[in-house]
Amino acid sequence: MNFNFNVPSKVIFENGCSIAVAEVIHEIQAKRVFIVYDKGIKSAGIADKIIAPVEKAGIKVTHFTGVHPNPSIENVEEGYKVAAVADTDAIIAIGGGSSMDCAKAINILLTNPGSIKDYEGRGKVKNKTKPLIAIPTTAGTGSEVTAFTIITDTERQRKMIIAGENCGADIALVDPALTIGLPPAITAATGMDALTHAIEAFVSKNASIPSNIHALKAMELIVGNLEEAVKNGTNLKARGNMMLGSLLAGIAFNQAGLGLAHAIAHPLGSRFGVAHGVANAIGLPYVVNYNSGLESVKEKHMEIASAMNIDTEKKSVDVISEELVSTIVKLSSAIDIPALRGLGITKEDLENIAVEALKENSMKFTPRNASLEELKELLLSIYNEDPLIEKVY
Ligand SMILES: NC(=O)c1ccc[n+]([C@@H]2O[C@H](COP(=O)([O-])OP(=O)(O)OC[C@H]3O[C@@H](n4cnc5c(N)ncnc54)[C@H](O)[C@@H]3O)[C@@H](O)[C@H]2O)c1
Ligand SMILES: [Zn+2]
Repeated sequence: MNFNFNVPSKVIFENGCSIAVAEVIHEIQAKRVFIVYDKGIKSAGIADKIIAPVEKAGIKVTHFTGVHPNPSIENVEEGYKVAAVADTDAIIAIGGGSSMDCAKAINILLTNPGSIKDYEGRGKVKNKTKPLIAIPTTAGTGSEVTAFTIITDTERQRKMIIAGENCGADIALVDPALTIGLPPAITAATGMDALTHAIEAFVSKNASIPSNIHALKAMELIVGNLEEAVKNGTNLKARGNMMLGSLLAGIAFNQAGLGLAHAIAHPLGSRFGVAHGVANAIGLPYVVNYNSGLESVKEKHMEIASAMNIDTEKKSVDVISEELVSTIVKLSSAIDIPALRGLGITKEDLENIAVEALKENSMKFTPRNASLEELKELLLSIYNEDPLIEKVY
């Protein structure tokens, strides 16, 4: 089996490690840092807790607190303007995928000319970026270990993927304790995003043995801990397992790529502002069901089911695929994932979402191709909340 595998970031995983960021800043010999986060991180008290010891250590700090969800080109430019005059040695991102991606994009512009739009695609960011330390506060996008930054082009209503060298963090400080106060709905949505990363990486056309190992362990951790993390947010063990699951899923999809659930989630985010995790959670069981139309995927579903602790003994591959789908449906319902219909999307919007989804990069990796008609039918099933097991595609 051929593969090309690497983890772009050095990872430190420990409860409380984010408080010691000043030491990491010293190690990379930075004297001035640019810190990127959003208002939610500020009001949760996370930013102050991490930044106070940095300032106390005599490191000059410039803040950009204006990150928006699904950050746009304009949002990146706004941050870049502040960073460009700050004369900074390193960048620190504190937050979920939105803050980490916005920081990555600002960092690209600090050493590469032009607009962030010029770098859409893979391998276009040629100049070395400044050291970036990512501190994730959701579990999550895995952006702390992926060489991707995802920025919304509001004009085209599209999520741009900027990937490759100079698009990742150099150091990830993964501190599960930071997620203790993450509200239940965001815990649920971001956890389902991580589960979608793991499942899509595992069935991807580009999967490999190292990505599969990470993806399977991620699924086990996420399915075993997400409901507990949502319902009992102060359970540090569940939070730690979720953070680890999200990290491993990030490592997996960074190499293997994603699939149809993400292809649908991106236009839902860029056109309708649906939170990334919610958009994935809504589509995931329908996509798993659709993919199980391929024999080769059914075989993979057996391994996924075992990782998720579903009893596979003496069961056919068809039954196992069905149980996998119903496990995902039950998990989503236990953690109150909303339905597509309640998110301001009408039946008339579905065709456009299908057209946009087909243009997404992750369609290259999804195991079962979909025509426009098939995708429209799948979206209609999601919209109508059709029961899954009886549905024959
Ligand atoms: N680069 C990648 O590899 C990658 C992968 C997947 C998704 N993404 C992108 O990530 C973005 C979504 O990121 P996200 O799902 O992490 O959400 P987010 O970063 O938008 O955060 C969601 C909300 O949660 C709040 N929040 C975050 N952590 C908190 C905490 N510990 N306590 C209290 N509030 C907290 C934030 O303030 C924000 O209001 C999307 O733009 C998506 O496209 C990127
Ligand atoms: Zn995702």
